[in-house]
Amino acid sequence: MSITNIIRENGYYSSNNIISDEDLSQLRNFIDLKLKEFPNKNFRLYEDSFKNTVIDDKKFEDKINKIISEVLRDNNINDYKKPNYKVLRVVSGVQQKKQAYLYHFDAHLITILIPIIIPNNKSGKNGDLVIFPNLRKVHKNLILNIIQKIFFQNFISRTLLNTKLLRKIFNYKLLKIKPGNVYMFFGFRSLHANLEIETFSTRATLLIHCYDVFENSSIVKMNRKQSINKEIKNIKV
Ligand SMILES: [Fe+2]
Repeated sequence: MSITNIIRENGYYSSNNIISDEDLSQLRNFIDLKLKEFPNKNFRLYEDSFKNTVIDDKKFEDKINKIISEVLRDNNINDYKKPNYKVLRVVSGVQQKKQAYLYHFDAHLITILIPIIIPNNKSGKNGDLVIFPNLRKVHKNLILNIIQKIFFQNFISRTLLNTKLLRKIFNYKLLKIKPGNVYMFFGFRSLHANLEIETFSTRATLLIHCYDVFENSSIVKMNRKQSINKEIKNIKV
């Protein structure tokens, strides 16, 4: 079965065959350095921070792009040449709770999640990934996008989506993500978030997004730029 069909049927695709042990240990080393720089903090890193690291390495990128191009092709998206949008997300310290349950739709069609450090607490608080797969269709209507975001990304919807009935109806997936695996889903179409971790733990994931659905929208671009700038300011404090 093709990756696209697996995602359509199962809500997500996962593989332990894409990144190597060497890739994972290089990713871990990079995170260890950054954790020394920003200890016990939630932070995100973007493109400029990845220079001369495994994330920027052509071989690593090729492995990821191989599955991305397969999915793009199966979704009749041809000649999409824009670079992937990469975010390294680290959750650590007492503020980690603020980063949990933030259900959202992505602006890009494809989301790839590569777990780098995932805690293994007996309490079960390990930052599991929650996906309500393919809740909405791909569209380029900015107004509809805003309405959908207001409808789904609020406290009431989050509470309702926590009920057993709605979880069943919307095909709720709870993924105990594992370093070494690569997870892929339609981030634009799927409402997703991560659960919390213990305060003394650290969760680090590399997110790779592809196919910006609103690539021509200056509002979306501005919004993205603003959140990147805010993040850069946050870690400088
Ligand atoms: Fe996301």
